[in-house]
This record gives sequence, structure tokens and C-alpha cells, in this order.
Amino acid sequence: MNGTSAQPEHVSVLATEAVTTLLTHPDGVYVDGTVGLGGHAALIAAHLSVRGRLIAIDRDESALTSARQRLAGSDCRVDCFRENFKNLPLVLNRLGVSHIHGLLLDLGVSSFQLAEPQRGFSFQHEGPLDMRMDRQQKTTAADLVNSLPETELADLLYRFGEERRSRTIARAIVRQRARKRIQTTAELSALVREILGHRPGKIHPATRTFQALRIAVNDELGGLGDFIENILPSLVSGGRMVIISFHSLEDRIVKRAFARLAGRCICHKPVELCECPRREQVHLLTTRPITPGPKEQAANPRSRSAKMRAVEKR
Ligand SMILES: C[S@@+](CC[C@H](N)C(=O)[O-])C[C@H]1O[C@@H](n2cnc3c(N)ncnc32)[C@H](O)[C@@H]1O
Repeated sequence: MNGTSAQPEHVSVLATEAVTTLLTHPDGVYVDGTVGLGGHAALIAAHLSVRGRLIAIDRDESALTSARQRLAGSDCRVDCFRENFKNLPLVLNRLGVSHIHGLLLDLGVSSFQLAEPQRGFSFQHEGPLDMRMDRQQKTTAADLVNSLPETELADLLYRFGEERRSRTIARAIVRQRARKRIQTTAELSALVREILGHRPGKIHPATRTFQALRIAVNDELGGLGDFIENILPSLVSGGRMVIISFHSLEDRIVKRAFARLAGRCICHKPVELCECPRREQVHLLTTRPITPGPKEQAANPRSRSAKMRAVEKR
């Protein structure tokens, strides 16, 4: 939240780059699959005519409420849905929309989610160890931390947090939870800090643990690659997909899915063994990812890890 008003805040990353890459048709149907507080969406809507349409999706009810208010005065038609964007085909079906002109995904969490202690996303604020984007979902971070077997917990921290000390942290968590359930962000962050120590100038020692739990709680990576490939038939020819990611695991999935759609080999086996489809269904609009320039990074440190990739359907 902003200190001077009750409005939640989030600075949209690569806003101009994303929106100008996405839009090709002022009368088109566009989907913002991670609308958040509606920063990118408001820019998209501002470029659409009264015949244009914006479908805004977020799995977080409070984000969607803010986005709905922000987009209320738009000229184009706006439909908002609390949904996982991976269910976009269902949403389009419900609306009777057969084709879209563009899809934007700005993955990960929003600053307003991180800043809200009750949501439990951040080790910087004391709150319940929750981390659910969709609060109707059952499993929280506390459930995972207090119930997963030690090896599964260690694998999760290694896989989703790229945490090299995953086994040590998992062992400490299991020892601690045998004494008392770990309930809060502060308890977990203090435990990790105690185990790993904190070197000045380095990232907080709990950063990777929190990232891993958040990804696991929200199943952020599961099905992402398949979704990107399966949504292609819903794009019109010339339609575009623009995806902004914030960590290497996510970016790798996007890069591979786009490369497969562009007919590139991603298995790197000899030609006679390669089973990649090698059918060029899209043009890569970004052979290298677009990243924020020094000005944007200085103004919005959260943008530092952003990578934007885009394709156009042939
Ligand atoms: C980085 S923020 C988006 C910010 C937005 N582009 C803006 O300019 O305000 C990411 C948003 O995506 C949502 N989100 C993440 N994964 C999602 C998913 N699989 N389905 C729907 N929403 C998702 C989060 O709840 C969060 O609100």
C-alpha cells in the first residue's frame, strides 16, 4: 500500500515495450492473463477502440477488484475474471470468443502482494506463512513447510529456489517443526538466517527459500510450457504473445516453448535422433530477451530481473 493513500501500488515493468509489441489491431481482442493492478491492461485499453475488447484475468481476487476499478472507464469492452490464466481456453469458451489478437503474461507476484504482511509472501514483513495468490486455494506455504517429508522439502528448495544449501535448510525445518509448528514468515526467515548466516551486501539468506515456496504453493511453473504451446490455435495469424518473466526457471520454460513453436530444435540431439516438431508456427520477435534499461532499473529495482520475450503467429 501507498503510505499516503489507500491505493495498492505496483509499477508495471517494461510497460511501453510490452504493450507496443503486443498491439497490432485497435479493434482486436486482447488478453492480459496476469492483470494484477491493471497497469499494463490500462495501457492496452487506452490503445483499443470502442470495437476492441480486453479480457483481464488474475487468480487474486483483490488484484482483480483493483484492476476492475482502474479499467472501468475504458472505451473498449472489458471483461474481468478471477481465474488461473492456464484456464484461458475455458474463459474464451464461456465468452464465445474463438480467436484473440494478443496475449500478455507478466508472471510472478505483484508488489502489492509482497507488501501486504497478511499475504505472507515476504520475509521482510511478519505475517502468516501463506503465499497463496488465490486465497480460495487450500494449501498454504505453512502446510508445505510443516508437512512435507524432509527429502521432498529439500528437493523443492533446490528445484524452485536453486538453493544450494537446500538439504541443510530442510533438516533444520524438520527439527524445528518437531518442536513447534512454523507459522509465520518471521519464524521461517529467522530459522534460515540462523542456518546460513547473513553476509552484508548479499541477498537475504531466506530469499531463495521464500521464492521456492511461493512457486510451489502457486504451482507457477507447472503446465506453463504446455499452456504456451496449446494456446497458439486461439491466436489469429499475425497475433502476438508477450511474456515477461522474473527468474531463470520461468524464462527457460518460455524460451523453450517459443523456440519449439518457431520450429527450432530444443533437444540438441543429432538431426537423425531429434524429435522436435521443427514446424515454424511463429516468428520470434525477440531472439534475445528485452530487459529494462538502467533508468527503469534504477527507478524500479524489482524490474532488474525481468526478461521479456515475444512471438508472432505466422
Ligand atoms: C507481476 S503482477 C502483474 C502486474 C500487472 N501487469 C500490472 O501492470 O499491474 C502478476 C500478477 O499475476 C497474477 N498471477 C500469477 N500467476 C497467475 C496465474 N497462473 N493465473 C492468473 N493470475 C496469475 C498474480 O496474482 C499477480 O497479480
